[in-house]
Amino acid sequence: MSDLVLGIETSCDETAAAVIKDGKFLLSNIVASQVDWHKKYGGVVPEIASRKHLEFINPVVDEALTEAGIDFKDLSGVAVTYGPGLVGGLLVGIAAAKSIAYAHSLPLIAVNHIEGHIYANLISHPELKPPVICLTVSGGHTDLLYFSEFGDYEILGRSRDDAAGEAFDKVAKVLEIGYPGGPAVEELAREGDETAIDFPRPMIHADNYDFSFSGLKTAVLNYINQQRQKNNKLNKANIAASFQRAAIDVLVKKIIKAVKEKKANDVLLAGGVSANQRFRELLTAKLNDLGVNIYYPELELCTDNAAMVASAGYFKWESTKKEAPYSLNAEPNLKLS
Ligand code: KG4
Ligand code: ZN
Repeated sequence: MSDLVLGIETSCDETAAAVIKDGKFLLSNIVASQVDWHKKYGGVVPEIASRKHLEFINPVVDEALTEAGIDFKDLSGVAVTYGPGLVGGLLVGIAAAKSIAYAHSLPLIAVNHIEGHIYANLISHPELKPPVICLTVSGGHTDLLYFSEFGDYEILGRSRDDAAGEAFDKVAKVLEIGYPGGPAVEELAREGDETAIDFPRPMIHADNYDFSFSGLKTAVLNYINQQRQKNNKLNKANIAASFQRAAIDVLVKKIIKAVKEKKANDVLLAGGVSANQRFRELLTAKLNDLGVNIYYPELELCTDNAAMVASAGYFKWESTKKEAPYSLNAEPNLKLS
């Protein structure tokens, strides 16, 4: 096929469409955020999310084509996230992609959202070549991978319970510092002392690559409750900073362990939590000591977007020529395999 792929992403609370050329070069990247509708509830409300996706999807797709300066007839394929995510939202994106593919006789390409996050790195760093260690970490997953070819992933470990981003969101919610939680915790943490409270670092010494963030989240909630019971004034900045440091320490430790075991020269970060500057800073320092390179996407490609979906879709089509059937369904619990 020629080289222009439209990507569609509706798995959580961002309605997004993008056009990519040759899988790496962005022609447009439109993201309609629903944050304003969810923030008063302190988290994503699935029913509101699906309704907003329905409202935004057509204008967002139109804008992506207009900004790219192309028409539907110029496209060579339509890639869409089919999981993991919220079922109602996924279905809106899938229905839109199917309609476009059918109406314009284009291949429909089904993309795993987690894999999309990995491909965001190729857009920011087109020269990137595996083998790499990759941590993909966001609100729904924390997966540590090794791969020597895009598309063929060795899962070294993953979270056994909550994702790291989910813990950031929960902590932000109980601290009442706003939504989305990750950026709010990061901002407040800048004013805090990350050594103030010794929160646990679950599984940090375990001889494997798995993670667990539910215990850390509970430890923070318990700490806050105890302080409230004692009528102590909460030092929210210290709590945010100490929690953030505990979460980062575990992520960094497991990445370094994997780098050493696999003798890797390059590390990729992907997903919303990779936007965290303190995480990047601490990991970069450790990797510099080992002479290992670190890559992460530009900020707007770390969090949910459709450019990464278009990129993953392009390469998937290039390598497999596998068209998704029109019976394609949403897979809310899809894993990376
Ligand atoms: O990739 P993403 O946009 O959506 C999912 O696939 O989940 O990631 C969103 C997650 C949320 O949990 C959010 O709190 C977290 O990534 N996040 C951050 C930061 N920015 C987003 N976590 C820590 N620090 C950040 N700066
Ligand atoms: Zn995501």
